[in-house]
Amino acid sequence: MNTATSNTPPTPLPGLLQSPHFAMLGGEAVVVALVDAFYRHMDARADTGVIRAMHAPDLASTKAVLVRFLCEWLGGPKAYSAQHGHPRLRMRHAAFAIGAPERDAWLACMDCALTDVGADPALHTALMASFFKTADFMRNTGPNPAPPATVPTTTKESP
Ligand code: HEM
Repeated sequence: MNTATSNTPPTPLPGLLQSPHFAMLGGEAVVVALVDAFYRHMDARADTGVIRAMHAPDLASTKAVLVRFLCEWLGGPKAYSAQHGHPRLRMRHAAFAIGAPERDAWLACMDCALTDVGADPALHTALMASFFKTADFMRNTGPNPAPPATVPTTTKESP
């Protein structure tokens, strides 16, 4: 009989958990660079004003949270769940009106950021397909389904 008294293990994060993508991308330093580039594009692009306005002017703490989340989502250290619990991303995004244009603006920033950090092309494509699924799941307004502006070119499944 199991008499262990430890807490129930946390529910795994959705997405790429347990994947080798964290190491393939280059580890935490590259995730930090990715998040910096992501928000640089969000600040600079013409089509991201709406999603940028959803964020606070100072992005420091948002960047730190996204770095922790992405490290874990990519299969790296689990600091996000340790500090925040289960991400419940759809619930956490419910306060923001997210439709296809907002989803596609978010994805455009991430696409450019992956290019900026020099992600391997196959990894870049696989990650964009996974980001699409997560970003599409965040939609809470507008017609459903909403085809992507750019169709992901891989069929790789997230675990
Ligand atoms: C679909 C378009 C999206 C929009 C418009 C959006 C927007 C936002 C906004 C405004 C915040 C709050 C930032 C703050 O409090 O400073 C946020 C938080 C966050 N977003 Fe998104 N987001 C999107 C998609 C995504 C995707 C695809 C992911 C993951 C792959 C993601 C991961 C996160 C995380 C981890 C947080 C922090 C949650 C927490 O507080 O623990 N978001 N997002």
